[in-house]
Amino acid sequence: MPAKLTVNANGPLKVEGEFELLDATGKAWDVAGKPAVFICRCGRTQKSPFCDGSHRTAGFVSPSVAD
Ligand code: FES
Repeated sequence: MPAKLTVNANGPLKVEGEFELLDATGKAWDVAGKPAVFICRCGRTQKSPFCDGSHRTAGFVSPSVAD
């Protein structure tokens, strides 16, 4: 399945399918076998780049509705 990215309202970016996740140096995070990963959009996570739920307590608001 090709990669599918979903921008969750007021929350993380959900990434599903086949993809690689690389840092700025080209080193990869091991996401093999995971059905989905959630990438932080709010900047408050303590597990960057992954969402740790901190957006909820931070009151992050970003509806991000496609038009
Ligand atoms: S989007 Fe969840 S911690 Fe940032």
